[in-house]
Amino acid sequence: MRFGVLTGGGDCPGLNPAIRAIVLRAARSGHESIGFLDGWKGLRDDLSRPLRTADVEGLFSRGGTILGSSRTNPFTKEAESAKVLETLARHRIDALIAIGGDDTLTAARELYRRGGHVVGVPKTMDNDVSGTDWTFGFHSATAVAVDALERLRDTAGSHHRAIVLEVMGRHAGWVALATGLAGGADATLLPEERYDEEALLAHVTSAVRARGYALVVASEGIDLGPRRGSAGRKDDFGHELLRERQVGAELARRIEQRTGIETRSAQIGHIQRGGPPELFDRILATRLGACAVDLALAGRFGEVAVLHGAVVEGISLDRAIGSPKVVTPDWIDLLHTFEA
Ligand code: F6P
Repeated sequence: MRFGVLTGGGDCPGLNPAIRAIVLRAARSGHESIGFLDGWKGLRDDLSRPLRTADVEGLFSRGGTILGSSRTNPFTKEAESAKVLETLARHRIDALIAIGGDDTLTAARELYRRGGHVVGVPKTMDNDVSGTDWTFGFHSATAVAVDALERLRDTAGSHHRAIVLEVMGRHAGWVALATGLAGGADATLLPEERYDEEALLAHVTSAVRARGYALVVASEGIDLGPRRGSAGRKDDFGHELLRERQVGAELARRIEQRTGIETRSAQIGHIQRGGPPELFDRILATRLGACAVDLALAGRFGEVAVLHGAVVEGISLDRAIGSPKVVTPDWIDLLHTFEA
């Protein structure tokens, strides 16, 4: 068989280990692989590179993706969809493995509906793909955010300030939740909860009174009401570029104005997405990549490799995507137990 591989959407730690796992698992049974560049753009514009076993040497520890990525969606225009199918035929691809989040997997489902032999692998630092317990990228990205919060604790303590850390996550608050929980934030704001300014100010004031400083974690997706921001700039899949709204800076301004406590903010942005994958993400990416090859070899196209509990298995793309997986009330209840 000839396997095609692509990585779409935002990069995250674990993509390279997944590519490595696919190539080596396929090679073990005598199959060859090629990579399409920059997500679905590579299939639309016929951009590819060989993926021999030597090409994936050492990839288990490398961040980013050697295939490049983009947020291209070729299935919005008929002419572009046709080009995708032509490229697959030209390269005699028997199975395409699409590694990506909800958007990339939605495009994969569209390809499957048009007769394409495709299997999905979920990834995203946002951890918001509904069909899988965890996505790779999330643990590594959140470890960076927790490290940032710990560094900010030093400065907040030294200067007796409040500091707001803004983290990524789009409309799911998993990164903020885990950062707040693991880093001991005094208040954590999630897109899943209505913004309550009085409660935030009470947390900040009580933390400053108790020990002289306060730490707040805010997810980029929270809604602070109408204000200037990204001017609605959107990507190919229709998502607003949330970091341009700078909710962390706005929160810091409001805290300082209403409490008189000197307040700063930090937006770590794409720093969260780079760097080597940590242990959990390396292993998960490796397991899912190998599982995707096994699904394709078994002819189980239209499926996606997912993690359920400790088990890696295939489920239909229809089941795996749809509405994003958001933070559940039990997690939110746990989080609020530890706030100031
Ligand atoms: O989906 C992953 C993610 O990092 C989100 O957390 C964030 O909102 C978005 O991508 C940023 O996208 P871009 O890299 O296009 O700025």
